[in-house]
Amino acid sequence: MNEATAALGIEAISVYVPRHYLDLRDLAEVNGVDPRKYNDGLGCLRMAIPSPYEDPVTMGWEAAAALLENYRVDREGIGLLAVGTESGVDAAKPVAAYLHGLLDLSRSCRTFDTKHACYSATAALRHALGWCSLPANRGRQALVVATDIARYPVGSPGEPTQGAGAVAMLVSDRPHCLQLEPYPEAVYAEQVMDFWRPNYSAEAMVDGRVSVDSYLRALEYTWRQYAGNSGLGLDDYDHLLFHAPFAKMVHKAYRRVCQLQAGAGTEPGAAQFERHCLPAVWACQELGNLYSGSLYVLLAALLERLQERASGARLGLFSYGSGCCAEFFSARVGPRAVHWRGKIGLEAGLLRRQRLDYQTYLDFRAAATAFNRDGSYWQAVAGWGNGQPVSFLGIRSHQRVYATATRQPAQALEYSARARVVK
Ligand code: HMG
Repeated sequence: MNEATAALGIEAISVYVPRHYLDLRDLAEVNGVDPRKYNDGLGCLRMAIPSPYEDPVTMGWEAAAALLENYRVDREGIGLLAVGTESGVDAAKPVAAYLHGLLDLSRSCRTFDTKHACYSATAALRHALGWCSLPANRGRQALVVATDIARYPVGSPGEPTQGAGAVAMLVSDRPHCLQLEPYPEAVYAEQVMDFWRPNYSAEAMVDGRVSVDSYLRALEYTWRQYAGNSGLGLDDYDHLLFHAPFAKMVHKAYRRVCQLQAGAGTEPGAAQFERHCLPAVWACQELGNLYSGSLYVLLAALLERLQERASGARLGLFSYGSGCCAEFFSARVGPRAVHWRGKIGLEAGLLRRQRLDYQTYLDFRAAATAFNRDGSYWQAVAGWGNGQPVSFLGIRSHQRVYATATRQPAQALEYSARARVVK
């Protein structure tokens, strides 16, 4: 193993789970679809719904602030903040700039966003690892945040695969959570029109079949490439984490690598899938597609679910971003599970969330659209008060307004209202 890259990876990880969700059976009923199509055919059970007072900035803040707090991270030690997102709130100003301010990070910090659909967080992670490996940055930490809202048109085939949430990762030369293995990289890029979101649209556009085929083509290419680079085969991995736009996609991906390993026509057994994929894939069933955070929420799910049993496990990770760019890599879970117990926040976030009825889901969408227009500030502020520690309060003079528990616009304090939830 190369000395310069021997001990780099993820030191700490934290997840933000939105406070509301929609049950896919409720969506199926309204859409006139057999619920088994959503639950079994796509593998989706529930999807996270952000409130109109949330956006990629507030969600990223929730994940990152919890990480700084729970792992007692010294803000001054963070010299790089990279945000992977495909639902950025401004064409020029990065989400990272807002987060840098809201998190009170050091002025001596490089901030930027990365974009390549769901691959963006892996691009940010790769940049952070390279930065940490520079002799001048040894001992310093980089903060990588993946934050997105997956939104498709109402009634479209993509709608049941929506989701939202954020993952924050501290990257350093103390890889307590995950140490990347230093084999030559296995990447794939191809210009393909499978999924995109024009600047004038809040909703993604997708050619579903093309996207599934493109995902599997990229997986096949990078799997073969990585197997050649590393000599690792299916049995060398304890667990496999595949980018998860919907849980059934993970089944399709697993089936494909089993066939690459054992020949076309191979069907993986249930026990094999359970061992390799099940400890992580449940997070996708609960949250839906997190876009940039999708792969990394699976990592968090695996660490939370397996605790000490994950220590030392070898993981294979597949990151796919439409458009497309993809990568397969491997890593070892760190040996000290005690570092993340009770600190990741995934299961705790799922326990505290509330179920929305379908009409409120539509109301949230409509309010989010309205709040993202200039002049929405007074309208947004009038309904504020969902108990969030940080809120997006609309736009005033073309500037987004945020309030945190310690920085509230005076007027916002005068109002409060509760989200309508299913009791
Ligand atoms: P669809 O056309 O509505 O669904 O959209 P379908 O008709 O293909 O059915 C889906 C599955 O349900 C099928 O199973 C059916 O047989 C089954 P499969 O053949 O695939 O195994 N089914 C049923 N099962 C049980 N009981 C029933 C029943 N009826 C049908 N009664 C599609 C599906 C995924 C295309 C759609 O949801 C979509 O467009 N999603 C968004 C795009 C997407 O997620 N693509 C995935 C790969 S691209 C990617 O991952 C990148 C992405 O994350 C973006 C980024 O990079 O930023 C999306």
